[in-house]
Amino acid sequence: MPRIRRFYRNLAVMNQFIYDIIAQRRQQPQTGDQVDLLTLLLDARDEETGAGMDDQQIRDELITLLIAGHETTANLLAWTWYLLAQHPTARKRLEGELGAVLNGRLPTVSDIPHLPFTEQLLQEALRLYPPAWFISRNAIEEDEIGGYPIPAGSLVSVSTYLTHRHPDFWPQPNQFNPDRFTPQAEASRPRYAYLPFGGGPRLCIGNSFAMTEATLILATLAQQFRLALANTQPVTPDPLITLRVKGGLQVVAQPVATPVPGDTP
Ligand code: HEM
Repeated sequence: MPRIRRFYRNLAVMNQFIYDIIAQRRQQPQTGDQVDLLTLLLDARDEETGAGMDDQQIRDELITLLIAGHETTANLLAWTWYLLAQHPTARKRLEGELGAVLNGRLPTVSDIPHLPFTEQLLQEALRLYPPAWFISRNAIEEDEIGGYPIPAGSLVSVSTYLTHRHPDFWPQPNQFNPDRFTPQAEASRPRYAYLPFGGGPRLCIGNSFAMTEATLILATLAQQFRLALANTQPVTPDPLITLRVKGGLQVVAQPVATPVPGDTP
């Protein structure tokens, strides 16, 4: 099948790319304080045997981090831009916060606590369009949930998407409202009404990293550009492994200084 052949060809390219980086780093180890994740993985030792990871184990770790960490955050940002394009009031509030806190400079990690609305926007985008739109668990023994028998060994999927739009927990669930994520509003909700990063022992390991990265990217770009939808095609989710925008999000970047028709100063 051509698709399968293409998959293996692409996999070989990706593996070669990653194995080259590993070989290069083994030959020229990083020194000093500025070590990156690859060095940490290469230096990691099994506590009991003292053994390090071989190339394939390092490759597997890197692939996990690249795949789990790239597409999810990219999805989150795409949906956030989409929502901002639909809601000019929120966009103005975002630009106001960024202007007041950053005044045109690049954000750093220490700015994040001062950008609450920027973070609320991302949280609301994660609610409406959770990139990981379902999570699964294997039932290790027989159980019953809400009257439904769960046989041992079955796969149970929890829909983050539906939970995030459940009217018992979210008033007007389909409406965009970043103020659902003020500390007061958050405190009034059951913990698992919102689970974009999953929950329990297998909670997303990149949770804080993703929110930090997305906040910094949004704060950097939104100071300079507004992304307007390039056409009137409906924007719909494509529920694959992650919740992509079907066909990609077509946008036009406008410098923030440009007035948007209908905007009041
Ligand atoms: C917006 C961005 C992200 C979202 C929405 C997301 C979502 C999730 C979800 C729902 C899970 C499963 C949790 C569960 O089953 O309870 C998960 C697991 C995981 N995520 Fe993320 N993730 C994101 C970013 C990242 C990043 C940036 C990394 C790495 C740098 C990462 C690495 C992982 C890994 C390694 C797991 C498996 C953890 C385990 O099974 O112990 N994710 N993620």
